[in-house]
Amino acid sequence: MNAIDFPIDLETGIAEIDNHHRAFVALTNRILTAAPAEMPSADQALAALRRYADHHFSAEEAQMRIHGFAGMRQHVMHHERFRRELFEIVQLSLAPGSVPQVRARLRILVQDWFLDHIRTMDLALATFLNDVSAARHARLAAASASRKSGDHAQVEVLTTGDLMSQIEQRMRTKLR
Ligand SMILES: [Fe+2]
Ligand SMILES: [Fe+2]
Repeated sequence: MNAIDFPIDLETGIAEIDNHHRAFVALTNRILTAAPAEMPSADQALAALRRYADHHFSAEEAQMRIHGFAGMRQHVMHHERFRRELFEIVQLSLAPGSVPQVRARLRILVQDWFLDHIRTMDLALATFLNDVSAARHARLAAASASRKSGDHAQVEVLTTGDLMSQIEQRMRTKLR
């Protein structure tokens, strides 16, 4: 089965999210393109894919929660639907001879659903997070200007990348 391409127009501009998306598609492609003799490792890849989906969705959801993203409820519902479908595919993979069906369902889930989710919901979230980040930078510039003029107000400024890195760090610790 052919590999799924990751279209360049699905880049969100937030490195951590983009890395997650690319890694997710790469893991999927390992399953779709594995030779029959490699299928035991493809089964492991399916379990890894599920863990990775949890890891990625949790990171996005943490960002939404931290910044009070208005579209969070609907976005999380989408993630839940994906998790359920992936769980069903993992269950299906336990049956002997299910490889063609597993691959067909996984392709539909990732190529149609996951990429479409990025195109619509994740890009909207990224626009919001980038706006939050830009507003923080503007506050930093204002704070810096007022410090120069003798006002010593302290303003904590974290970029979206900083926050994602912190969340990533926490997730890695949890996954260990
Ligand atoms: Fe995503
Ligand atoms: Fe998402």
